[in-house]
Amino acid sequence: MRNILVTGGAGFIGSNFIRMVLSEQNDCFVVNLDKLTYAGNLENLHGYLEHKNHKFVKGDICDEKLIAKLIEEYKIDSIINFAAESHVDRSIEEPKVFIDTNVTGTLTLLEAARDNKLERFVQVSTDEVYGSLGTEGKFTEQTPLSPNSPYSASKAAADHLVGAFGHTWGLKYNITRCSNNYGPYQFPEKMIPLMINNAMNDKELPVYGDGLYVRDWLYVYDHCTAIWKVLTKAKPREIYNIGGCNEKTNLEVIGIILDRLKKPKSLIKHVTDRPGHDRRYAIDADKMMTELDWAPSVNFEQGIEKTIDWYLENDKWLSNVVSGEYGKYYDSMYSGR
Ligand code: NAD
Ligand code: TYD
Repeated sequence: MRNILVTGGAGFIGSNFIRMVLSEQNDCFVVNLDKLTYAGNLENLHGYLEHKNHKFVKGDICDEKLIAKLIEEYKIDSIINFAAESHVDRSIEEPKVFIDTNVTGTLTLLEAARDNKLERFVQVSTDEVYGSLGTEGKFTEQTPLSPNSPYSASKAAADHLVGAFGHTWGLKYNITRCSNNYGPYQFPEKMIPLMINNAMNDKELPVYGDGLYVRDWLYVYDHCTAIWKVLTKAKPREIYNIGGCNEKTNLEVIGIILDRLKKPKSLIKHVTDRPGHDRRYAIDADKMMTELDWAPSVNFEQGIEKTIDWYLENDKWLSNVVSGEYGKYYDSMYSGR
């Protein structure tokens, strides 16, 4: 039996990962440590909270004593660190909490992993640490880090710390750097669920700038299968890029959403751009595919169809998430923009 500590398991990707592990692996016990910030939601684990191989603990990855206690009590062998402040626009408004969680929190987990000689530490990072691309080329694992936003700078700082723990103390780590994820249970501050929610409610779709920014979209389930492969098959101290080979402009993605929901293009409203907006991300995932025999299970057209259908079928989840604080966030970010 493996005993893994998953942080941020009530968020978008972490909850998809835990549901996958509990459904597909019989010999893995998951301790899920999550602070339940605005982005953490126990409804994301509906049907799995009471699973015999799952223990949810509300807490902060900066809490050294709690982490030491969990590692001892549950005989943890590996940590997968999903917990983070994850939204670029919020990092531009309020960077400090990004340093607290993404840098200091990761450091706290690293110290615990080192002191307890854990078998593996998997840091879930992002392609945004590489910066922005022009019209050509892709990020490889050798691309130098050149982050542009407070969010990506905090993730790059964490990646450097993880590498330093490997170099200095021999920590057995892996770093994964994935492209933009989409799929069920994503908080509607991110582009795809925000546009789906607005289109479902006949609200304007706020497109930053010219809308020709490019992201390389990865279906969340495929990201989760990749992380499982890294945890169970990768050699220590290797970095893996994970991408879906689905480069699309934001306007292309929004066009697909509007077509599927049978809503008019007139809902699109170009608004003031994000400061320092990265133009293009694209991932070369060749190492992941050849060394770990991983491949995405869906293309973008299949993944977005599943995603839109999920939001349509789970309108109660969506209406709960957008009630309360979300309205204030939306107004402060978009009104008069
Ligand atoms: P999310 O914002 O949906 O979830 C983050 C989770 O972390 C939430 O449940 C939150 O409550 C928890 N959390 C935040 N601060 C915490 C703290 N101090 N202690 C414990 N828990 C805390 O994020 P996500 O989209 O699921 O992203 C997960 C990871 O993947 C992040 O590390 C992010 O940087 C990375 N990533 C995400 C994407 C993407 O497209 N969503 C792309 C690349 C990388
Ligand atoms: P986002 O989902 O915030 O991910 P990231 O910035 O980490 O890539 O944004 C994806 C793209 O969509 C990015 O180019 C910014 C753009 N975008 C909009 O045009 N309007 C919006 O309301 C949001 C949230 C994003």
